Amino acid sequence: MPPDQMPARPAFRAPAIAPTAAGVPVPPIPACRAWATRYAGEHGAPLDLTQAVPGWPPHPEMLTALARAAGDPAAATYGLLEGETALREALAEDMRLFYGGDPATDDLRITAGANIGFNLAMAVLAAPGDEVLLPTPWFFNHEMALALRGVRAVPLPCRAAEGFLPDPERAAALVGPRTRAIVLVTPNNPTGAVMPPELIGRFADLCRERGLWLVLDETYRDFLPEGQDTPHGLFQRPDWRDFVVQLYSFSKAYCIPGHRVGAVAGGPVFRGEFIKAVDNIQICPPRPPQFALAWAVPALREWRAGNRARIAARAAAFRRALATAPDWRIDALGAYFAWVRVPDAAPDSTAAAERLAAERGVVSLPGGVFGPGGERHLRLAFANTDEGAIAAVPERLAGLYPRPSAARGERVAAPGAAAPGRPFGRSP
Ligand SMILES: Cc1ncc(COP(=O)(O)O)c(C=O)c1O
Repeated sequence: MPPDQMPARPAFRAPAIAPTAAGVPVPPIPACRAWATRYAGEHGAPLDLTQAVPGWPPHPEMLTALARAAGDPAAATYGLLEGETALREALAEDMRLFYGGDPATDDLRITAGANIGFNLAMAVLAAPGDEVLLPTPWFFNHEMALALRGVRAVPLPCRAAEGFLPDPERAAALVGPRTRAIVLVTPNNPTGAVMPPELIGRFADLCRERGLWLVLDETYRDFLPEGQDTPHGLFQRPDWRDFVVQLYSFSKAYCIPGHRVGAVAGGPVFRGEFIKAVDNIQICPPRPPQFALAWAVPALREWRAGNRARIAARAAAFRRALATAPDWRIDALGAYFAWVRVPDAAPDSTAAAERLAAERGVVSLPGGVFGPGGERHLRLAFANTDEGAIAAVPERLAGLYPRPSAARGERVAAPGAAAPGRPFGRSP
């Protein structure tokens, strides 16, 4: 048909994006890394302290096991929804040694990482309009996962003066008719705070009494501080399967975040529903890393213990280094993270993080992305660097925001600084 006789195409009407998605802030790590593209290198190589990844490769035999598994045609087929039995057996044994109690193979489901474990769990624990208590500062992916499902994250404020530990009485006062779960992250992201076993036990009692799920994210359980070897006694309670859902990640302990493997422990009622979400969203977790991990969980126990000591040495190095940075103060430190207060002269945490990345080449995450109460802090993930680089951090921080007296009464301007909440969309 000649073009002049073609019927006019109707005007384009843009389809809508669900408000639950449009209201979620952009992923913060790439946004913060983008600031460092302006860094010209004058203070040395860029230092990326944004992401919680171990700063060394997997064990060489793990790499061999991964390569072998990836070349196995069986690993290219769909696997069991639950995950590989051999890995679930190995993890169940590891958990019994670590926690005591009776977690069994049947209690465990393997997921494509702890983040998807959280998402799959929330798909069956909370419906749109329900509420979930998240201690603040919170792990931003938890809040994003809830928001995407139309579930409201209710902030449970944790205070610096209380070591950023959540208070069960404050939590009890926030429980309402739509509350479905309380989420605890220990060791914590972003503060590194480690909850004492008796405090976790008090939250378990609260959840039991109020008919709530206790969702415990223990992604960093292999990095407890020296001297604390048992994180909690939940798996020794005869009733844990009725209300506890525990999340684990193989990303950090085995240095394989790119292979995407985590695990979820829970009782029969939870598992009966969970498997529906698994079948829909994940089908099965990636098989080659599961084959390799079934070998690695018992075989690399000593290597994992060595990693814990390496991270502890980095934590100590970071503490020593920051003690020599006059305007900066560590408010909490543990596992992979330091939660550092920005100097009073900085307008806000986003401005401070942006300047630090663009002018000094140190890339961190501003506290504002970790929800209410995160402002005026930066999260520095020191696990992802070595002690030499950590020692250089004070030099990079020096003079960025001198106290007004040191700057002869002037407030230091933050050129191009973003307002709080930007560029991450919605302010918490
Ligand atoms: C508390 C917490 N949960 C879950 C995850 C995600 O772990 P995975 O790589 O297993 O999805 C992280 C990663 O940073 C985390 O800090």
